[in-house]
Amino acid sequence: MEYRQLGRSGLRVSSLALGTMSFGGTGRFEAVGTVDVGEARRITDVCLDAGVNLIDTADLYSYGAAEEMVGTVIKGRRDRVLISTKVAFATGLGPNDGGLSRHHVIAACEASLRRLQVDHIDIYHAHMWDGHTPLSETMEALDTLVRQGKVRYLGCSNHSAWHFMKALAVSDGLGLERYVSHQIYYSVVAREAEYELIPAALDQGVGLLIWSPLAGGFLTGNYKRDGTRPAEGRGRTRWTDGLVRDPEQAFDIIDVLNNVANDHGTSIAQAALSYVLDAPGVTSVIVGARSAEQVADSLRVANWQLEPAERERLDAASAMDLLYPYSHQAAENADRLSPADLSLLQRHLGQPLAQR
Ligand SMILES: NC(=O)c1ccc[n+]([C@@H]2O[C@H](COP(=O)([O-])OP(=O)(O)OC[C@H]3O[C@@H](n4cnc5c(N)ncnc54)[C@H](OP(=O)(O)O)[C@@H]3O)[C@@H](O)[C@H]2O)c1
Repeated sequence: MEYRQLGRSGLRVSSLALGTMSFGGTGRFEAVGTVDVGEARRITDVCLDAGVNLIDTADLYSYGAAEEMVGTVIKGRRDRVLISTKVAFATGLGPNDGGLSRHHVIAACEASLRRLQVDHIDIYHAHMWDGHTPLSETMEALDTLVRQGKVRYLGCSNHSAWHFMKALAVSDGLGLERYVSHQIYYSVVAREAEYELIPAALDQGVGLLIWSPLAGGFLTGNYKRDGTRPAEGRGRTRWTDGLVRDPEQAFDIIDVLNNVANDHGTSIAQAALSYVLDAPGVTSVIVGARSAEQVADSLRVANWQLEPAERERLDAASAMDLLYPYSHQAAENADRLSPADLSLLQRHLGQPLAQR
């Protein structure tokens, strides 16, 4: 297993992390997974044996049940894992049961600690943007949790690049702990993060933790162009729909993944994971699973890498439009772009900009 520095923090995390959104299965999470404690233990065993040192959960997942299961299965081996959990989505019906107010952030952290049965959280993520709460209030509350020893590092998730930059500016301006990670959706069928989120993270030295790298199980070869879906697991619902930007293009990408997988003797899932694992700015890819067998397959991506020509074929198959202002920047001011800017443009153009 490879360990990577999480942004500019001193923390080293495994390049593959375990996601637990499939643990439990309460309410709407039944569509994501119904992993019970026995299977959760098997999944966790496979991950820890492979060297995974980061487990990602959230207070939202199965409304607390996923955190409780994580607490149960890591008992006696807490020192081997870093726990990431999250706050912001509503956890109750009250007016202050969600968001990023001081009130909710502190109450939610204490509730997560109780469910996880631990005395600290390693990375505490603001799960989404809260445009109704002053950022100074949120960042001060998060900083307080770090000073109290309840949280070690801070991160955010699902922020726009301007949200992310504003949050960093507020914490820097007030001398508070800043985010060291941004947890975002990124997969070979949805590369929107390359426009702003990846360059912003590279520029700011913030690590990227990638969620739903298989587009919720779509990038496995189990979904067919003719509309056939798996009868089991997430295929029973339309869970993956929002994660696939362009279904026609997505099946062309799966054809390329299939060829790559055949050439390496791996699964399509591993080929899709490999694409994000070695993308610029990515610190760790969070793999989700319904069974220990699935996660064992996914973790084998650590044993091989895409050839440059294979990455180029996948880049081409999954290319997005170069929108304004990136199109203008590429055409008009290529000589004034930073390495962070170029991380997007050069991949899209398929050649170094200077030679255009
Ligand atoms: N920050 C956020 O807002 C956010 C949002 C979503 C997720 N997350 C985190 O990211 C983690 C990963 O997300 P995800 O679970 O959606 O990831 P994913 O990797 O896109 O999808 C996982 C699903 O793909 C299928 N699968 C996994 N490995 C497979 C393999 N090797 N072969 C065949 N099928 C396989 C399984 O679904 P089926 O077998 O049921 O088809 C599994 O539940 C979550 O657990 C959570 O921790 C964070």
